[in-house]
Amino acid sequence: MTLLQWKDRYSVGIAAVDHEHKELIDLINRLYDEWVKGGPRGSVEGFFGDLYKGISAHFALEERFMRECGYDQLTAHKNDHERLLDEIRDIMDDFVDEEQTASALAGRLESWFSRHFETHDARLHHKLGAHPH
Ligand SMILES: [Fe+2]
Ligand SMILES: [Fe+2]
Repeated sequence: MTLLQWKDRYSVGIAAVDHEHKELIDLINRLYDEWVKGGPRGSVEGFFGDLYKGISAHFALEERFMRECGYDQLTAHKNDHERLLDEIRDIMDDFVDEEQTASALAGRLESWFSRHFETHDARLHHKLGAHPH
């Protein structure tokens, strides 16, 4: 079962960033699949670890890119990245503590992903999409 699907409106017009966003969607879907099909807890935790690493690397890329372009809302976007990382850690902890159902996890991952897209990444797209790297 696929949880998240790539949509064209997610595109920020920067191939490297789009590529990573697609990879993040893929990581979230694989993690969710593993959980839904009742995979061993250790393997779901492994997917969480991969996701966390992928997200950290992705945020670092966006931040480097924004710095290079002198992006005006770098600090706000960066703060949002910190918050998003905290949130993923919380979701991961609740999983380890067995404090949530699969549908609750699905809802949290979905809103986690779309919220960032519809706010900060969308704005980044409007500002910088015209200057492909
Ligand atoms: Fe971002
Ligand atoms: Fe992003």
